[in-house]
Order: sequence, then structure tokens, then C-alpha cells
Amino acid sequence: MKKSNKKIISLLLAVMMAFAITACSSGGQGASQGADQAKPSSEGQTTQAVQEAAPAADESAEQAETAAPAAEEASSEAQTAVSQAASTSTAEKAAEQAESINYLALVNKQNPLPDGWEDALETVHMTNSIGDDVEVEKKAYDAYLKLKEDLEKEGIFVDLDSARRSVAEQQRIMDDFTQKYGADYALKTVATPGYSEHHTGLALDLYLIIDGKDVVENEDMIQYPEIWEVIHSKLADYGFILRYLQDKEHITGYGYEPWHIRYVDDVNTAKEIMESGVTLEGWLGAVNETDLDVDYGSSEVYTPEQLKEAAIQIKCTFAGWKGCELHSLRYAGDEADNAENLEWLNSHEGNAKYTHAAEFLTDFHSPVEASGAWDPDQEYKDYQWWLGLTEDGTWEVVDWGY
Ligand code: DAL
Ligand code: ZN
Repeated sequence: MKKSNKKIISLLLAVMMAFAITACSSGGQGASQGADQAKPSSEGQTTQAVQEAAPAADESAEQAETAAPAAEEASSEAQTAVSQAASTSTAEKAAEQAESINYLALVNKQNPLPDGWEDALETVHMTNSIGDDVEVEKKAYDAYLKLKEDLEKEGIFVDLDSARRSVAEQQRIMDDFTQKYGADYALKTVATPGYSEHHTGLALDLYLIIDGKDVVENEDMIQYPEIWEVIHSKLADYGFILRYLQDKEHITGYGYEPWHIRYVDDVNTAKEIMESGVTLEGWLGAVNETDLDVDYGSSEVYTPEQLKEAAIQIKCTFAGWKGCELHSLRYAGDEADNAENLEWLNSHEGNAKYTHAAEFLTDFHSPVEASGAWDPDQEYKDYQWWLGLTEDGTWEVVDWGY
């Protein structure tokens, strides 16, 4: 499929880009392991988000009709959802928060620790089996002790590796990872200081004790999926959820971390989230979370891993299209990787940064309620997504439309 045979309508109005970036940000990672104290895993490469995608040059009337209002509305809905979940800086919220922390606060790549969080935060300190001091939000710690006791009945022994971290501690971890593994890897696995869920005191990193030995390195812990399965099956009974789910890196921004659990307090809420299989972001309505099987077809240009990474980038961007339902996503074929398309993609950035082009196609359904962006309640078929492969091997979503 050649781009030149198609009428490409760019929908990259600034407001939409801004929302896509807000919803997505950088750093979904394939199967790579999370950061807390890990060495880099050999499996999985981290993806790059659409942060750098520049607004397209074409600004057709059609484009204006189609894109902007939805983006605005989507953005505003998402903002509302997020701000309901996370605290805001208003005096009213601050007063509420002083009485009790918001156990559903969303702290992620887009949402920093809410202002005034410490005002109502009560923590306790414990010493783990290694002798480290760990600080935890009080209710979360009580719940953790009950979870631990329950697990011990099953012959599973865990301890707390890390829970509440100050911004300075998070910065130390970031610096350490940057020094050991490079900035790219660090950014993809360690939250930016100020944006780590660990700041809340509600995020707990477990480690395993197997045959009396501490198993603390991520690449070692990941070797025990059957143990994690039992642990995860009990989390919700004590008000915890698993935060960084497998294959949800396009939503959470991080790879699978079986050890990172999050206290949400209410057991029914925890059960609902765990049973639904959605992320906290999806459950709160902060993003449009869609699961589907991608049809990768066949390619002689790209490896399966490269195609998977490209699809993650598209899903990441789509996650910001509030109210739209993704019904299919498929690789359009190697013929899109031609000189003409490459030149066109590179013209978006004004320099030749892409080495290859790839096209995917989607079918998706627009929101039932008219939003001004999409024709309401309509199935969009064969909608095009254009990606450029950068010299460092990461994908960027450059353009989309018909
Ligand atoms: N590893 C998690 C994402 C953090 O650094 O907060
Ligand atoms: Zn963690």
C-alpha cells in the first residue's frame, strides 16, 4: 500500500498531539523488567513514545472539522477523570486531603505526587530481613502484614524491599541506574523523581524468601511465575492491586513488575480492578484502555519484536482517544517501507531522522455521543497509522488518518 495512492488526512492538530502525549508519554517497555533494583533484562526492548512527533503540516478544513473538538473533549474528560482520582491543588481538595489521603490517587508518568500529599500521610517504619529500613503508609502496612500471614500459610515468604521513597531517594535510584545502565534504560524503568508511585507510600515492592534465602534481584524474582501467581491471586483480599501488568506498558509506561503492588484500601475496588484486568489508569478512566490481538501478517523487513514495538506505540497513542474503541490493528505490509514514504515521514520532522517507514491499519469505533471530532457512532475502517524507525531503533508514530 503506497501512501501516494491514498488521501492522507493528517489529524495531528496540536491539541490532539498534546493529549496523545499526555495520555501516553514515553517509555512503554516490551517485556523488560521494572526498575526498582534490577539489572537490565535481556528480554524486551523499551519503546519510545510519541513525544517527539511534530504537528503535521497539512491543515485541511476536513482536518480541522475532524480532529480538534474531540481532542479537546477527550482531553477535558480525561483531565476530569484524572483530577477526580488524583488530588488537585484547590483549597477544597487540599482540605479533604488533609483529613485522609486519596487511596486511588493516580501517580504515573503524567501525574506527579499531588501537592500536600504528606499533610495527611501516616507512615510506619519496618526493618526487612536484609536489615534495610522501609517506610510504608500505615494502613497499607497493616494490610501487607495480613497478606504476608496468609501467604505464609501457603508456604510463600515475602518481605518488603522498598515502599515510600522521597524524591531525593528516587533521584539516587535514577542516578544509579543511569550510571550503570545508561540514561535510556534508566528512563524506561525508573520513574522520574516526583512522578513515582513510591512517593505515596502506597506502592510496595516485595521480594521473595525461598528456602531461607533472600531473592531480591528482579531478574531472579521473575523466575518464579507460579509464586507470583499465588501472591497476585490474594492481593485484592487485602486491598492491593498489581500495578504494572504484563502487556500494558503502553498504558502504564512500564514493563511487567510482579513485585510492585499498590494499596487502594477498598477491597471491593481492588477486586473489581484485579478481576477486570485493567490498569489503574484504565479503571479510573484516565486513558482509553483496549485489548486486542494484533495481526502482524508477515514481514521480511521487520522482526516480530520490532512489529510488536510499533504496535505498542500505536496503542499508546490510541489510548488517548477517549471514547473510541479499537477493533483491529494490523500490519499493512512491507511495501510501505519505500523511499517515497520515507521522504514523506522525514518531511514531518524537517530532517532525515527516520531510516524506515511502516504502516499499520486499524478499524475503530467512534464515540456514540457526537463529540465534533469523529462522526458519532461510526466504524472507521482501514484507518492508517504511519511510523518512522529512528536510527537508534525506536519507533515514532508520525502520522495517522485517511
Ligand atoms: N519502578 C517504578 C516504576 C518506579 O521507579 O517508581
Ligand atoms: Zn516499585
